[in-house]
Amino acid sequence: MINVRHLTKRYPNHTAVEDVSFAVREQETLVLLGTSGSGKTTTLKMINRLIEPTSGTVEINGIDTQQQAPHELSRSIGYVVQETGLFPHYTVGENIAIVPRLLHWDKDRIRNRTHELLAMLRLPEKQLNAYPDQLSGGQRQRVGLARALAANPPILLMDEPLGALDPITRAEIRQEFRNLDELRRKTVVLVTHDVREALELGDRVGVMDNGRLLQIGTPKELLMQPASAFVQRFFGDQVLAFQLQVFTLQDVMPYILPESPGPEAIDLQPDMSLNDALTLLTKTESGVLRVGDWPIRIRAVDIWSALHQLVPKSP
Ligand SMILES: Nc1ncnc2c1ncn2[C@@H]1O[C@H](COP(=O)(O)OP(=O)(O)OP(=O)(O)O)[C@@H](O)[C@H]1O
Ligand SMILES: [Mg+2]
Repeated sequence: MINVRHLTKRYPNHTAVEDVSFAVREQETLVLLGTSGSGKTTTLKMINRLIEPTSGTVEINGIDTQQQAPHELSRSIGYVVQETGLFPHYTVGENIAIVPRLLHWDKDRIRNRTHELLAMLRLPEKQLNAYPDQLSGGQRQRVGLARALAANPPILLMDEPLGALDPITRAEIRQEFRNLDELRRKTVVLVTHDVREALELGDRVGVMDNGRLLQIGTPKELLMQPASAFVQRFFGDQVLAFQLQVFTLQDVMPYILPESPGPEAIDLQPDMSLNDALTLLTKTESGVLRVGDWPIRIRAVDIWSALHQLVPKSP
């Protein structure tokens, strides 16, 4: 759906993005992960032409974006700006209605859509007439998302949408994001410097450094085959926590010898994360799990040894 080819952005003294290529499939979430200054925002803004590339092309549904006026692109591409970018002198309702107004929707349609979005994002109705500085940071980020979703664009670009939040609120909103059907149906490019967020929200993750895209792959691929020491360093000393979060019982199953689980075993789904499975194991008396229909007995030690075989050893 989005096809980025050899995108480059040079400023007189600095190359912000250098020869970046990737494709995003329909309804896929691609996360661009990178340190500050690595070129994430610049890449995102070249997709909706808020920044014009020095060279390279962006196609959306097979059409070069250079053949579409920027204001036309803003209809098909929702954009959640880094630091939310809400207009401070517009109320919440007015901020959300910006694109629908540009599209000349009638009042009723705008009102209905606004109420639908408030309910979906769990924002209180009474905040409709509030100004952005009267909201909490998390509420502002939800309004930023509501504004980007307002005209129901098929594509959504999100720049650090959870940037300014504390870890607990971040985790909560991340969970909500993942459960929103409307979001799941969209093609999303999301920018973050938070590895956990990238692994949790991305169908695929692209790692950026110094204007270049170093590696792109599913969270499992990145954890199993980091292309460089830089990518590996991104996971740092949390790599084990990320592996437990990303890998599921199904992934480790081939490494566990079949053995009768016995009647005391607890039934689990194959898509449960190793983290959740281990947490459960510490709480159960028998210390044994059974997964779906597989006649396999799993103890904590089985999970650890399977994980050990699954992931590469550090060089
Ligand atoms: N208008 C500009 N002129 C010159 N250099 C720029 C300009 N805009 C961005 N840059 C530089 O390009 C690089 C990439 O910037 P960009 O905003 O894309 O980074 P980022 O990955 O989004 O960082 P952050 O995580 O801090 O938001 C930075 O080094 C920045 O200083
Ligand atoms: Mg940025």
